[in-house]
Amino acid sequence: MNNLPIIALDFDSSEAVDTFLDQFDEPLFVKVGMELFYQTGPQLIASIKARGHDIFLDLKLHDIPNTVGKAMEGLSKLNVDLVNVHAAGGTEMMTRALEGLKKHNQNIKIVAVTQLTSTTETMLRNEQNIQSSIEDAVLNYAHLAKTSGLDGVVCSPLESALLTGELGKNFLKVTPGIRPANTHLDDQKRITTPEEAKQLGSTHIVVGRPITKSNNPVASYHKIKESWLS
Ligand code: C5P
Repeated sequence: MNNLPIIALDFDSSEAVDTFLDQFDEPLFVKVGMELFYQTGPQLIASIKARGHDIFLDLKLHDIPNTVGKAMEGLSKLNVDLVNVHAAGGTEMMTRALEGLKKHNQNIKIVAVTQLTSTTETMLRNEQNIQSSIEDAVLNYAHLAKTSGLDGVVCSPLESALLTGELGKNFLKVTPGIRPANTHLDDQKRITTPEEAKQLGSTHIVVGRPITKSNNPVASYHKIKESWLS
């Protein structure tokens, strides 16, 4: 798995993905989420792989341990590089996910979603009945993910420093919520630049609209890549 910025392919068809990817003549790391996967399935994964790109399949599995384990066994045949589950599913679910995943492919990495960045502290208290701060809730889930043998978590770049301190720099921190300086925030609220994310200890960044909606996606990608890797 490479450490390039992960481009979120938030498109609704394989044609749109092909048009986008045709512009690039280098290996990339891309993210396929629910919207795209539910409409295009394993076939699209195979065609992206055939182009030589790494893939983060962002399906955020969350179900009983047996179901998630079996689902991961299926996903492990797809030759993707990174997958994820919700830490809220618990340590048994995460352990079974890991076992299922490694059945057909030892190299796929697996990370856990801690708290979605759309969850506010009020929602945490009133809806999930969790009486701690978001930070403590994230830290708790990150510890559970590590105990379960997972490779890391998806989190806000603003949480990366805390998690690096607690769980070590090799524990993956895959962070969306990235915006280059002076660009549109869209609906993202707690953001950092690629440079800041790196300084805070993020191991991977996920960037969507600043690249996919850019007038010049290749130039925007290279700018982000340079500031991330420099
Ligand atoms: O376009 P943008 O850079 O905001 O895209 C970020 C990507 O990361 C989207 O695919 C979004 O669904 C995903 N994501 C996120 N925040 C999370 C988890 C995933 O923005 N907490």
